[in-house]
Formats: sequence, C-alpha cells, structure tokens
Amino acid sequence: MQQKKINTIKNFINLNEIDRDELYNILTFGLAAKNDKTGYSNLLKNKSLILLFDEPSTRTRISFELAINQLGGHCIFLDSSTSQLGRGESIKDTAKVLSRYVDGVIIRNASHKDLNEFANNSDCSVINALTNLSHPCQIMADLMTLHEHMGSIENINIAWVGDGNNVANTWIQASQIFGFNLNMAVPSQFSPNKNYLKLALDNKAKINITENINDVVSNADCIVTDTWVSMNDKETNKEEKIKILEQYQVNEKLFEKTPKHAVFLHCLPAHRGQEVTNEVIDSPRSLVYQQAENRLHIQKGILKYCFGI
Ligand code: CP
Repeated sequence: MQQKKINTIKNFINLNEIDRDELYNILTFGLAAKNDKTGYSNLLKNKSLILLFDEPSTRTRISFELAINQLGGHCIFLDSSTSQLGRGESIKDTAKVLSRYVDGVIIRNASHKDLNEFANNSDCSVINALTNLSHPCQIMADLMTLHEHMGSIENINIAWVGDGNNVANTWIQASQIFGFNLNMAVPSQFSPNKNYLKLALDNKAKINITENINDVVSNADCIVTDTWVSMNDKETNKEEKIKILEQYQVNEKLFEKTPKHAVFLHCLPAHRGQEVTNEVIDSPRSLVYQQAENRLHIQKGILKYCFGI
C-alpha cells in the first residue's frame, strides 16, 4: 500500500480548503445519487475505510457506513476509546498504521488539532466527521437540502440563531464560498470562532452578527439552529449557557416574523423545548428529516471527491 497516491490524496477537513467547483460537484453528485440509488454500486470497489470516532453519532456514522456499502466499498467502525488510542498510543503512530490498511479514515474527534495531526501523518484520505471547530459533511447536506427545496443556494438569506458552535463556524465558511447572506443572532459569550469569521469577512463574505434575534428573521429564507449544549461543552457551564440562550429559541412567534416561504433546518439531535419547539420542528416548514436523509446521499459525493473517481 505504501506507493499509493501520496500526491493525489484529497482530504475533506474544512470547506474553505476545497475548490468551490469541487463542492458544487459534490452537491450535484449527492442529488444524482439520491435519484439513482443503485447506479453507482461499484464506485468504491476495492476501497476500504475506517470510521474512527471518539464521540457519539447516529446520523454521521450510519450514513457513512451505508454510503460506503452502497458504493461497493468496505468499512470498519473503530471506537477510539476501545482502540490503543484510548490507552495513549500516539496519533502519529495510529495514522501511519491505519493508512497502510485502508484508503480513507473518517474521523469524529473532539479536537480539530488532533484531526489535523492525524491527517498530516496519514497516507490516505481523511474526512472530518465533526470536530470542536467544524462539521463540513453536515453543511454539505444542509446546502443540498436547500438546493432541492429552493432550486438554488445563490443569494439566499440564512438566519443562524443560537450558539456560535462548530456548525455555525461551518456555515460561515459556506457563506464565504457560496456567497449567500448569513445573518447570525448569537449572544456575545458564545460567538463563533474568531479566526473563521475574520477569514470569511476578509474574503468579503456577506455575514452580519448581532445579539438581537429580531434583526435576522425578517428576510430569512431559512432559519437554522442547533443544540445549545454541544458534545464538547464543559459540564459545569451547561445551566448558565442554557439560561443565556433561552431568548434564542426558534418558536412559532419567531416564525411569524419571517417571510411565508421561510423553512427550518436543524442538524439533529434536537432538544425539543429548548432551542426549538415541537410546533416548529414538526411543522411543514421544517426540513429536518429531509436534511438528515441527505446526509446519506451527500456522503457519497464526498467519498467520490476524496478518491477522485
Ligand atoms: N448531525 C449529526 O452529526 O448527527 P450525529 O451526531 O447523530 O452524527
């Protein structure tokens, strides 16, 4: 396996490291794969991947495992806590060894720094399945969903409401790349990553940040939120954080201030009654299950991109 690829390895770690046209190709392939569920069954023939996760997952794990199987590849799930990583084996040694076995490693890791260290020591493709800083596979599925629903993602108005977490950071990168308007209502204590934001604004991204939720909804085509307490948040600050975010709940009253066509996205899992009410998440405006389904289809586009096939 050693002579494999090195110069041709493509990672999928952050959206802003990938060419805009390539991201559009991923999106287009996701749509094609959704409409032709059996048409690409040999695409990953003879390809093997590992899912190396150190945090829980329902959608990301299952959609990747199914996508790999449906494309004719082979995958192994490895829980880092029960591997030698959990006993202190170095990331470098783990990356060197695993990349001699497989063609790609899909990593969910609490530390973006560790993910980069793995990728820097790996001789195979590395895919970011969520870190403390970003969740690029999720946002590609979200964009696919909006593209299906609205016919285009050009010039749309996205309102992000709530915590400035890893998903919010990735919306910032997506806005920079695709050029849509991103209006964020986030309390100052929970602002998105400053470096991601600066980079996007330096690149003329159309992003506004306010603390006032009413400032972002009047022209919104889509309201997006996420759980207020992420997997990486410290246990001790939970109650205080929830209290501050209470005024950022997405509810019917908020939706009354949006245009009639506005839709709702949430990457799930949701904490019903906290960041979103049952009335909104179960309403016809909510695309959350379509969004979750699209994880499966877009993963196929991401895998195709990584292997240049
Ligand atoms: N949205 C998302 O990443 O879901 P999981 O945590 O279930 O993978």
